[in-house]
Amino acid sequence: MGKVTFMFCTLVIEMAILWGYANAQEQVGFQNLCLGNEKTTRLQVFVQDELGGENPTVWDVARSNITSTSPTSFGQVRVLDDLLTDGPDRNSKRVGRAQGLITSADLQVSALAMNLNFVFTSGQYNGSTLCILGRNPLENQYRELAIVGGTGVFRMARGYAITSTYSYDDETSYGVLEYNIYVAYITSTYSYDVETSYGVLEYNIYVAYVDASNENMQSLN
Ligand SMILES: *[C@@H]1O[C@H](CO)[C@@H](O)[C@H](O)[C@H]1NC(C)=O
Ligand SMILES: *[C@@H]1O[C@H](CO)[C@@H](O)[C@H](O)[C@H]1NC(C)=O
Repeated sequence: MGKVTFMFCTLVIEMAILWGYANAQEQVGFQNLCLGNEKTTRLQVFVQDELGGENPTVWDVARSNITSTSPTSFGQVRVLDDLLTDGPDRNSKRVGRAQGLITSADLQVSALAMNLNFVFTSGQYNGSTLCILGRNPLENQYRELAIVGGTGVFRMARGYAITSTYSYDDETSYGVLEYNIYVAYITSTYSYDVETSYGVLEYNIYVAYVDASNENMQSLN
């Protein structure tokens, strides 16, 4: 019994030390990330919105009791996994996916509450994501959504996206949406490798660079 108590205490102490150490490193890594250069860019992507057809990429998740009688489909929740392309044509270069939830959330006019992740799967942004939130008033030609964050290359991203309907085919329920994204993000001062996870190990490597010499730092630019 005494031995068990002793081992338990040791474990608690070791964990406390390790936790404090990892936490301090995380903080240093985060501080260094924020000291990096902020970069701005404009991205133009097209969302291939297949509401019908043989392989729809938008599906109903839930409906409220009043959805069927509501003029704005209030309470309809849909999930989507739409193809992102670099041009309006569905056969344009594939750049990623738009994934998330859209909810009809206005009792008066058609407007969606959007909760989307743009997941890039090619080019310099491969493996990075942008998080997009906001109100999408469908009756307006241009709708503005907020870029509230990102991962990978887009760490600490903020900005906005202007979206408009490029085309919509009633017969096939196929829509193409244009997104012009204006985003500022922090470029970290070490090279970003999509094959490694964004874990503590990555911060450890970064801290080692900082401790060694500033000349070893690499920019993403
Ligand atoms: C919604 O409709 C169902 C089925 O008609 C009913 O059982 C339920 O009480 C309704 N809920 C509300 C909140 O009105
Ligand atoms: C994107 O990154 C993944 C994972 O590293 C890789 O397998 C894939 O080939 C890359 N795609 C392109 C188009 O570069």
